[in-house]
Amino acid sequence: MRLVRPSIKWKNEHEDCVKEWDEPRVTPSSFNLAGYDNYETYLDALKFREAGEEKWVPSTNYFMVDEKDRVLAMVDIRHDLTEYLENVGGHIGYGVRPAERKKGYATWILAEALKKCDELGIRRVLVTCNEDNIGSAKTIVKNGGIEDESFIEEDGTIVRRFWIER
Ligand SMILES: CC(C)(COP(=O)(O)OP(=O)(O)OC[C@H]1O[C@@H](n2cnc3c(N)ncnc32)[C@H](O)[C@@H]1OP(=O)(O)O)[C@@H](O)C(=O)NCCC(=O)NCCS
Repeated sequence: MRLVRPSIKWKNEHEDCVKEWDEPRVTPSSFNLAGYDNYETYLDALKFREAGEEKWVPSTNYFMVDEKDRVLAMVDIRHDLTEYLENVGGHIGYGVRPAERKKGYATWILAEALKKCDELGIRRVLVTCNEDNIGSAKTIVKNGGIEDESFIEEDGTIVRRFWIER
């Protein structure tokens, strides 16, 4: 297993993941393809977002791929926190392809993302999940997450917040 940066090489795998997704929106949102004319336009928008332009903080995105070059999971590492990220989004967002869940891949990709945070000099990493997301909460705790106060969104959604000290 390895992490690779989004590029045209991963177009078909990425599109397959999105087709398979079991919710209206892909998580992390940086991997949503809806609204783009073509894959090149998506890649340009991702580059803009990763550069921290306009409302974005600088970020880095990776696919987790296996030895057959199949995409298994995706991760978005935000290098800074805004008020929204401090309350809701956290530094790291990840998602595992529906057919590949409960095989330890979220645990693996979060561990790898934390190593990337080390390289970026992020010493306290915030990772969050909705209260009903048991799998994500377990993934965070398995990677050393210590729970802080939850945040309640306007619609009543309870967001659990965990810090991972590096
Ligand atoms: C949440 C998610 C990332 C978990 O991915 P995963 O690859 O299945 O997680 P792992 O296999 O690494 O499992 C981690 C732990 O959570 C448990 N787990 C995973 N999914 C679970 C679920 N739906 N219910 C209960 N426990 C679950 C696993 O059993 C494991 O615990 P264990 O080691 O005690 O057995 C995945 O379901 C997903 O992508 N969901 C949609 C996007 C999302 O919610 N992303 C996270 C946003 S915060």
